[in-house]
Amino acid sequence: MSISQLARTIKESPTLALNEAARILRERGEPIIHLGIGEPKNKVPITAILSSAAKLKNGDIKYAPSDGLPSLKKAVIRYTEENYGRLVAPENVIISSGDKQALYNLLFAITDPQDEIILLAPYWVSYPEMVRMVYGIPVIVTPEDGSFIPRFEEIERAISSYTKAIIVNSPNNPSGAIYPPDLIGQLVELCESRGIYLIMDDIYHKLVFDGHHAPSAYQFTTRDVEESHIVLVNGVSKLYGMTGFRIGWAVGPRRLVEVMTAIQAQTTSCPAVVSQAAAEGALTGVQSFVEDLRLTIQNNRDVMISELQSFSGVRVEKPLGTFYCLPDFRAYSSNSVELATFLLNKALVVTVPGAPFGMEGYLRLSYSGSVKEITEGIDRMKWALDPNSPNEIYIGDRKMVRDWL
Ligand SMILES: Cc1ncc(COP(=O)(O)O)c(C=O)c1O
Repeated sequence: MSISQLARTIKESPTLALNEAARILRERGEPIIHLGIGEPKNKVPITAILSSAAKLKNGDIKYAPSDGLPSLKKAVIRYTEENYGRLVAPENVIISSGDKQALYNLLFAITDPQDEIILLAPYWVSYPEMVRMVYGIPVIVTPEDGSFIPRFEEIERAISSYTKAIIVNSPNNPSGAIYPPDLIGQLVELCESRGIYLIMDDIYHKLVFDGHHAPSAYQFTTRDVEESHIVLVNGVSKLYGMTGFRIGWAVGPRRLVEVMTAIQAQTTSCPAVVSQAAAEGALTGVQSFVEDLRLTIQNNRDVMISELQSFSGVRVEKPLGTFYCLPDFRAYSSNSVELATFLLNKALVVTVPGAPFGMEGYLRLSYSGSVKEITEGIDRMKWALDPNSPNEIYIGDRKMVRDWL
């Protein structure tokens, strides 16, 4: 079969590969615990359901403008004003089928072959693949001090005449770290002075804990959105638990949004209108939903961290946002793919290997599920790995004896 050279190099999502293995085991009746998945369990906001149901009920579901329904764009403009203190025009906003598509359109719009896009390790797994898909080169900056946030000088050193953009995701998937205000300020200044785009993937920006806030890049510039090199991407997937609706957006200079719109028009025409109605319902409905979710996730984070702190050999940094943490499992294995496969087969726990996030020897664990899943999942992992833990455990109604340590 003939497959293009580029397509052959695009890697499968590591999360999806393990999900598939877990799904097969679950279908066989195995009591799988999923600590890999990155989506909240709550039902979506009622305002989102009612708004999409009303759209369905009127039966008028046709193509919509390629850059999104005007009413949803208006809701995004209000969201941007309330959360970023910036009043933008409808021409500065494009609605896409998820933050992911907005980001892909954006990379497509700005990248010439061989252009470089700077990614900060640990980084979201899709970034390098998306950059490659537009014939760009991902340039990874890994913190030399072993932390989860590169220093400004390290990022500055990675810039070349081919650099088109730096992608920042804070709070960060997979580490849960929030980038400090000073660093965001320095990056804004750097990008504006060098004419480089600063892409802020803000998909988790309100899922922050203990009174911390993820600084907005706009607060560090006096430039108008038109002159600024900041581009925001965001969406309803994580904050409203609406991953299945596939609605995200980008905010940026109008010429850029125009080009992104042309790309979107030629590939998907427009995001699904029923989903856009749902997103509008979520953004214009009662916002206590997001705060309730944040509090639940913060509590889950506390449970996860206390479980991991009593896991011998494992080192973990307390995440300040998202629903992920990135513990260091190098005491048990330096190969995170092998370790995740071992944990799935022996303990029936799904984890995500750190390697595709640029953090070999680490595992990404999600605490977006229930407290029971977190405690039971970590107990099973301890049983599978830690020789000091009891060598018998119940997995479902089966008593399991560890015979490999
Ligand atoms: C950093 C980051 N950006 C974007 C996305 C995808 O967002 P969406 O569902 O809106 O495409 C994810 C999902 O895991 C993510 O972690």
